[in-house]
Amino acid sequence: MDKKKDEGYLEQNNQESSAVLKSKARESEVSLVPGKKENYWHIYYIDNRAGHVVIEKKSKETFPLITVMLNKKNQGKGIGTIAFRRACELSTYQIIYANISKKNIASLVAAERAGFKIVKISRSGQLVLRWRGKSDKNG
Ligand SMILES: CC(C)(COP(=O)(O)OP(=O)(O)OC[C@H]1O[C@@H](n2cnc3c(N)ncnc32)[C@H](O)[C@@H]1OP(=O)(O)O)[C@@H](O)C(=O)NCCC(=O)NCCS
Repeated sequence: MDKKKDEGYLEQNNQESSAVLKSKARESEVSLVPGKKENYWHIYYIDNRAGHVVIEKKSKETFPLITVMLNKKNQGKGIGTIAFRRACELSTYQIIYANISKKNIASLVAAERAGFKIVKISRSGQLVLRWRGKSDKNG
């Protein structure tokens, strides 16, 4: 194998290893870019779109609900945790809910790390989590 091919092989091998290890994203590598819709952000990891986060309030009577969606290759790197937390902080809401199935461990872990607390467990296995903004906690 010549030197160039050798280097290429090593580079490919390193990429594969890091994909397996799923190194964690740094705060500075994740950006939330506002979409056209209010309370909708595209999630970027370094320079690539990794998914989206949206906080929806269906009617005046309902509380805002957050959903984070990452594409497969960007899951498990801590990006979800950052997206949950930053979207809540960027929004104008002081109370935000998340409906998460208890089977969706990654989502539960990410939401809890971002400051959500479980407030209700339904018989069907659906959990309701709530995030409260700083001013709501103080007031
Ligand atoms: C759910 C989702 C947003 C979480 O984001 P993420 O970036 O993948 O999650 P994070 O890496 O921040 O945290 C996940 C944690 O859960 C852990 N985890 C995942 N599955 C687990 C399991 N079965 N048991 C124990 N821990 C588990 C991970 O190891 C990780 O912890 P670590 O950092 O200590 O390794 C993302 O995976 C996603 O978009 N999934 C598909 C769509 C979806 O389900 N969205 C939720 C709707 S609200």
